[in-house]
Amino acid sequence: MSHSYLKKILVTGGLGFIGSHTVVELQQQGFEVIIIDDLSNSSKEVLNGITAITQQTPAFAEIDLKDKQAVSAFFSNHSDIGGIIHFAAYKAVGESVEKPLQYYDNNLGGIVNLLLEAEKLNRSLPFIFSSSCTVYGQADALPITEDAPIKKANSPYGNTKQIGEEILFDVTQSKDIVNVISLRYFNPIGAHPSLEIGELPIGKPQNLVPFITQTAAGLHDKLTIFGDDYPTTDGTCVRDYIHVVDLSKAHVVALQRLLNQKQTSNYEVFNLGTGTGSSVLEVVQSFERTSGRSLAYEIGPRRTGDVIAAYADTSKANNELGWKTEKTLDEAVDSAWKWEQKIRGI
Ligand code: UFG
Repeated sequence: MSHSYLKKILVTGGLGFIGSHTVVELQQQGFEVIIIDDLSNSSKEVLNGITAITQQTPAFAEIDLKDKQAVSAFFSNHSDIGGIIHFAAYKAVGESVEKPLQYYDNNLGGIVNLLLEAEKLNRSLPFIFSSSCTVYGQADALPITEDAPIKKANSPYGNTKQIGEEILFDVTQSKDIVNVISLRYFNPIGAHPSLEIGELPIGKPQNLVPFITQTAAGLHDKLTIFGDDYPTTDGTCVRDYIHVVDLSKAHVVALQRLLNQKQTSNYEVFNLGTGTGSSVLEVVQSFERTSGRSLAYEIGPRRTGDVIAAYADTSKANNELGWKTEKTLDEAVDSAWKWEQKIRGI
């Protein structure tokens, strides 16, 4: 086994929000990166942002993972890859309710096609999967540990994450194709401190922080807070907002764990969060504090499908991965606002 191929990492969805930040961290740790992205929710210009930060341009192949032939040709040309970080997926909860088949086709077809090709390489490949805290639904106990029961998904999107984990688990039980770490993200926000890359929502954002920064930038009149009558300290929902740079670093640590064969089983799961819950109003206050602006908002009805509160127990990631978050909510919100100002030219 030549050492060089341990260093070439395939990042699917590498031009997306979390993917692009992870590509930067990988390159900064000396990995050679090759990105597959279909540009369905991203732009080629993200490559320029990555290059500006790392002085290295990752290799890029515009491929839709549903295209079996294209994926097969890619693997024939890159049989020397040493690991896969799989981000490529559709991620809009509401849209997934409207278009369930597209979500199952894309999010699950992508995994299956990757695994079918990985199998042909005849070696056990490190594989990091983008999963979500959505698999826990409204957990019975907080903070949420990795052994909390998986609840019935409340959207096709959430179900693709659950089924994606199951597909990967099943494969590790019978075949030596991949060693898997599923990373269950809580709420990723923020932008790279260089402001060369950040979140680029298409259309009206569904997520809280991009909606706040777009409202402050004048794209919306006001934020609607979805309910203030929840059983939480101030009545608004509680989430665990994690800076995207902290989250991205966890991918590199998880990859190194697999490359160094430090995993305790060939299918592992880690929660990635800060361990601290913040209410919607606390996020608004963080924005107002760090930007020095006041934000226009109103209280509206609850949003269907929202859980009351979710935040991570981070002990497993802290102890076994040796990773923990370093950035605060204020730093994350501040970076999101600075990024918004940059892309809007304000
Ligand atoms: N919120 C508002 N107003 C908005 C947008 C959001 O009040 O305009 C509130 C939501 O009600 C929620 C909180 O802000 O209480 C966070 O909402 P997000 O949409 O930013 O995040 P979610 O926790 O709902 O979504 C996350 C991930 C999804 C995942 C989902 C599962 O982004 O990928 O958790 O619950 F599916």
